[in-house]
Amino acid sequence: MIPSVDGGEGPFRHGDLIYRRTRPWTASVHALLSTLQSHGFVNAPFSGGYDAAWERVSFLPGETGDLDENENMRSMTALRSAARLLRRYHDCTALFMPPMLEKDQTWQLPPRPPFEVICHGDFAPYNVVLNSGEVTDIIDFETAHPGPRDWDIAYAIYRWAPLSAGVAIEDLGGLDTQILRTRLFLDAYGLPAKERPVLPGMIIDRLNALVGFMEREAANGVERYRRNIEEGHDRIYRRDVAYISEHRDEIIAGLMD
Ligand SMILES: Nc1ncnc2c1ncn2[C@@H]1O[C@H](COP(=O)(O)OP(=O)(O)O)[C@@H](O)[C@H]1O
Ligand SMILES: [Mg+2]
Repeated sequence: MIPSVDGGEGPFRHGDLIYRRTRPWTASVHALLSTLQSHGFVNAPFSGGYDAAWERVSFLPGETGDLDENENMRSMTALRSAARLLRRYHDCTALFMPPMLEKDQTWQLPPRPPFEVICHGDFAPYNVVLNSGEVTDIIDFETAHPGPRDWDIAYAIYRWAPLSAGVAIEDLGGLDTQILRTRLFLDAYGLPAKERPVLPGMIIDRLNALVGFMEREAANGVERYRRNIEEGHDRIYRRDVAYISEHRDEIIAGLMD
């Protein structure tokens, strides 16, 4: 047993490893991390194995932090490099989808057809590592699950633009800037224009699914989600669903050539 700094569930660092409590989906996440590594994708933590209590992954050096905490995470360089990294990650997982799906995997979030890639599930500024201004690595694969590319892209742009009402970050509060940042992300990912109009609707579906998931988990007594609801996360998602619905046409127009 590794002593936890706060007596909690982790994640916490111990030497070059990050420890976190083993969960029902840990085996699937480690199969994913190992397969990424064997395909030459080195920009995610390496699996350090797991037992009944704890899982271990490699610590990846660099800066972390959300858009409001880390100014460097807000730069155009960070935005573009994040999108390119997501593209490389998706392309890599697409190579091993059939064998990955044949195994009886358990994921925290429900798989969503069509199964094109293993979605990261929370590809946000707070789940990447920055080095010399560029997003170099992805961390926190707890919400990974099979799904279509645009499902993962939708949530990513929600977080990276961010396509959110009432953003209290200098320069990121206005819809025009948010649309521009969304477009830069999609251009850097290389998503064709014809595949962009579905995205606002997909963010709305994704946020509604998240609220439903959070409410079910909280009702089942999962502490983390109970706290999320107590802190009003569900209200923020509902507010953003309304914001994106209201501006849907403007957003779509801004994403096209
Ligand atoms: N493999 C890793 N390499 C570097 N830092 C990490 C790693 N895993 C977690 N961290 C740090 O710990 C923080 C929380 O970890 P994360 O896996 O995102 O868990 P959660 O979102 O559940 O709190 C991250 O934002 C990051 O700062
Ligand atoms: Mg995280």
